[in-house]
Amino acid sequence: EEGLHSAKYPWVHEQMFKTFDHQALRRGFQVYREVCAACHSLSRVPYRTLVGTILTVDEAKAMAEENEYDSEPNDEGIIEKRPGKLSDYLPAPYPNEEASRFANAGALPPDLSLIVKARHGGCNYIFSLLTGYPEEPPAGAQVGAGLNFNPYFPGTGIAMARVLFDGLVEYEDGTPASTSQMAKDVVEFLNWAAEPEMDDRKKMGMKVLALTTVLFAISVWVKRYKWAWLK
Ligand code: HEM
Repeated sequence: EEGLHSAKYPWVHEQMFKTFDHQALRRGFQVYREVCAACHSLSRVPYRTLVGTILTVDEAKAMAEENEYDSEPNDEGIIEKRPGKLSDYLPAPYPNEEASRFANAGALPPDLSLIVKARHGGCNYIFSLLTGYPEEPPAGAQVGAGLNFNPYFPGTGIAMARVLFDGLVEYEDGTPASTSQMAKDVVEFLNWAAEPEMDDRKKMGMKVLALTTVLFAISVWVKRYKWAWLK
């Protein structure tokens, strides 16, 4: 059964001549960390990729050091704990799938690294999902035990309850943290996580376009010049 088709939202970062809004990415990362990271991993993102785009080097180092990772085995083959560093990946909330399902009444919160690419509808779908929990399920709606009604989720019964509520986080840049603002910011951040190379790709595309335009203009001029005698 298909979910309700989400509306199309005018995502600025999807425009050809626009990059990600880095302030929005910073806010979105804050939402991920303070809300989503309790249940969802982001296993493909190392701290180092956050540097420059979302965090300063010092902020990223400090954040990495808050977690412990296994060291390489020493000469006796013993693995110890060491503080995280920039090359480490963001920590997962649960050690394995079993623990993950156990904590979520049997459901599995998917890794969010590629979720924007993996789900039909991408940004629009995830925004709609996060903001689409009605106060009350519509009359006659049936969802299974322990599931929450959300018209955008295929099947309409989702194990994840509503997680975003107005004012849940406090943004350092003073942006009011409405439910939709947080949903927008975290979706943009997740889109960045799924394709961190997007800004570079667009910039390269611009250069290619500029260069081929010039080359084409020159070739038109050369062609006219060479064939001018024929007139
Ligand atoms: C599923 C996003 C917070 C538990 C999902 C899905 C997305 C998502 C995109 C996949 C839906 C699909 O399969 O189409 C987020 C975001 C969060 C967040 C962006 C933060 C803003 C949480 C939290 C929990 C949680 C805090 C746990 C308390 C789950 C579970 C599922 C799920 C259990 C699986 C649902 C099912 O398959 O029925 N989430 N989530 N999520 N999430 Fe979250």
